[in-house]
Amino acid sequence: MTGLFDLLLNWRNRRLVDPSFQNWAASFPLTRPIAQRRAREVFDLTAGFVYSQILFACVELRVFDAVKDSALTVPALAKKIGLPESGTDRLARAAASLRLLEKCGQKYALGHHGAALFGNPSVFSMIKHHAALYMDLSDPVALLRERTRDTALAKYWDYTAGGSAEYSELMSGTQSFISEEILSAYSFDQHTHLMDVGGGVGAFLCAAKRKHPSLKATLCDLPNVVALARAHFIEQNIKADAVACNFQTDPLPFSADIITLIRVLHDHDDEVAVSLLGAIRAALPDSGTLLVAEPMAETPGAEPTGDAYFGMYLWAMGTGRPRSLEEIRELLRHSGFAHAKEIKTRRPILTRVVIAR
Ligand SMILES: C[S@@+](CC[C@H](N)C(=O)[O-])C[C@H]1O[C@@H](n2cnc3c(N)ncnc32)[C@H](O)[C@@H]1O
Repeated sequence: MTGLFDLLLNWRNRRLVDPSFQNWAASFPLTRPIAQRRAREVFDLTAGFVYSQILFACVELRVFDAVKDSALTVPALAKKIGLPESGTDRLARAAASLRLLEKCGQKYALGHHGAALFGNPSVFSMIKHHAALYMDLSDPVALLRERTRDTALAKYWDYTAGGSAEYSELMSGTQSFISEEILSAYSFDQHTHLMDVGGGVGAFLCAAKRKHPSLKATLCDLPNVVALARAHFIEQNIKADAVACNFQTDPLPFSADIITLIRVLHDHDDEVAVSLLGAIRAALPDSGTLLVAEPMAETPGAEPTGDAYFGMYLWAMGTGRPRSLEEIRELLRHSGFAHAKEIKTRRPILTRVVIAR
């Protein structure tokens, strides 16, 4: 079977690299749309870093803010964003081609993608922090040759420093979509005490408490982050405990009947992940539940998010990897969880959810 598959793959690839086949496919009416779409996809792959930097410039210069209420001419936009008119004109045209802006006569308004991003300010912090990843990816071959923690992204996410306000704020900002996905996929009604391990400043616990007010809630994180979480709970008027705990060295408190691990597992290499899951197993009663939520590798329709984006992101961070559903199940089995099943989310590109017992 493999032999036949290899033969077919080789045959297809020999056709695809052949310039006369490419010319034929681009002219033949039935293959022309496919050839055009493939050419566009290949060009997008080649130019993707430019598109990202156009988006970065728009966010940095607050271009979407500038045009959100009314469309602006280039001179008016230039005045608002503090760039010369020639640079503004070049950026506005580029942004319009990417549907970040939309050209209306001589003016520019928010485009489809610009409007979607504007409704979601936490994505702006995410785009801004990509400056660190962009720096690390400037020589991808060197980055891949030897994994190191001497990268801009590793410095940004320095858990060993005891938790940072900057990364915590970024995670909290992007948490609202994730919370919505988890809370609509899984009902916490059947539980009495939820503990969120690596819970950051508590954005998920606040959302869970709003939906299930009778649930007892505890957050565990590194000491600096726990201090931020306590302040956040007071500010949000949410009754929840926050326990300082380093899950790599300390046992986890035993009192919850459900533990959540949201966007935590993929940050860690297998050895730490297995020890963390073992500590969770020990902190749960036999009838307890673990909920793991994170974006995963090999997610149908979102393969580049898991394998390309998070793959390179976590490599640059110097620890962790995106895992496929099956790899997570395997880690869970290895750590003493007998049943692990996926609960479908509406947007698996953002997060998938596995329930283990
Ligand atoms: C990527 S953030 C996810 C935060 C939150 N769960 C969310 O989805 O927004 C990872 C969290 O794990 C915490 N963390 C990392 N290493 C830890 C450790 N050894 N012990 C406890 N918490 C840790 C970090 O401080 C951070 O809050």
